[in-house]
Amino acid sequence: MDTRLSNPPGTACVSCHHPDQGWGGNNGSITGVAVGSTPQSAGSRNSPTIGYAGFVPRFHRVREDGRWVPVGGLFWDGRADSLSEQARGPLFSRHEMNLSDEADLAGRLRTAPYAESLREAFGLPDDSPDARWNAAALAALAAFQRSPEVAPFSSKYDAVRRGQARFTRAEARGLRLFSDPAKGNCIACHVFRPGSKNPADHLFTDFTYDNLGLPRNPAIVANAEPAYFDLGLCGPLRERPRGLSDAVCGMFRVPTLRNVARRPFYFHNGSFSDLTEVMRFYVRRDTEPARWYPLDAKGRAQTYNDLPPRFARQVSRDEAPYDRRGRQKPRLNEAEIGDVVAFLRTLDDGFEP
Ligand code: HEC
Ligand code: HEC
Repeated sequence: MDTRLSNPPGTACVSCHHPDQGWGGNNGSITGVAVGSTPQSAGSRNSPTIGYAGFVPRFHRVREDGRWVPVGGLFWDGRADSLSEQARGPLFSRHEMNLSDEADLAGRLRTAPYAESLREAFGLPDDSPDARWNAAALAALAAFQRSPEVAPFSSKYDAVRRGQARFTRAEARGLRLFSDPAKGNCIACHVFRPGSKNPADHLFTDFTYDNLGLPRNPAIVANAEPAYFDLGLCGPLRERPRGLSDAVCGMFRVPTLRNVARRPFYFHNGSFSDLTEVMRFYVRRDTEPARWYPLDAKGRAQTYNDLPPRFARQVSRDEAPYDRRGRQKPRLNEAEIGDVVAFLRTLDDGFEP
């Protein structure tokens, strides 16, 4: 929560990862993507939740149906492997907290109100070098992000799982639609294991990657350049991982849905701010494209316009809920969408029966 760890001061981790915003939020930005400590510092991605981030496995590949698929890694594109490595990102990023170097960070830590407790916790002698102070702060941040404070498993869903509460009818219908492979089919990616007593089996993600063909967010400054595309696993913020083909270009990691209803913006590019609209997009993306994508001169929807054409062909189209085309009936109607959203709301932590 220390807003002195930014230049100029005023931006803390919590500015973009606030508990009231489902551990997301964009430092007050209304464009869908984060803004940093200086006004010119518009970022290009929506802040993902840090809730339950301690459960994200290291980046790795698994063999599935004869091909390699990516799993895990922190950030939307999986480019960081540990929470302590990850925290360097925002502290020194021009778009986020904008500190100049190790000495800058260490100087701020030495005079912080919690300097003494940091020294005690990590056994730092008076004359510790910058690197030790900084390593201690990163370790402390990582420990916080692994603590029950950000991963409390205290939602209504968890209470029901433990037999301490009951779903309303709408919530129960929503859960069934969420899990039905012919309806929402959300469980295919937002995985949980019904019946398992291990909370870690109820994270609503399998940490894999997918390409949803989202609409481009025109409010992202970098998008003013028509040739700029955020391709997730293929950059610009990382290199395409070794051993994976171009098929992963445009893919982003499946986020947990815990506390999702509280998040102000959705998806890596912040192109949605309303959960019901997210659901409508999932089921009507290809039956009502003009609703989601801008029209070209001939009045045709420019589908999947946040990807260069050669990668747009890779958008997932073959499984529910986004396998409907033309006049086919969407997998979920409006009432069913309402039920799924009611269920998603049960994933907010802090439930009191
Ligand atoms: C100005 C907004 C901002 C600030 C301040 C900020 N973050 Fe983030 N954070 C982001 C954005 C945006 C991403 C996603 C970046 C990406 O995917 O490239 C992110 C990603 C993360 C992730 C990865 C989560 C996941 O599931 O992949 C963690 C963990 C995280 N931040 C922790 C922190 C910590 C700790 C701090 C303070 C030292 C911090 N953040 C400060 C905006 C911010
Ligand atoms: C094939 C895998 C897949 C399926 C099926 C799927 N999702 Fe997702 N979901 C993703 C991926 C990948 C993202 C992140 C995409 C991005 O930002 O580019 C995501 C993002 C989301 C988000 C935004 C979360 C956030 O923090 O921004 C919500 C909400 C969501 N999904 C809900 C659902 C629901 C409800 C269903 C069922 C109707 C569903 N998803 C089906 C893969 C899937």
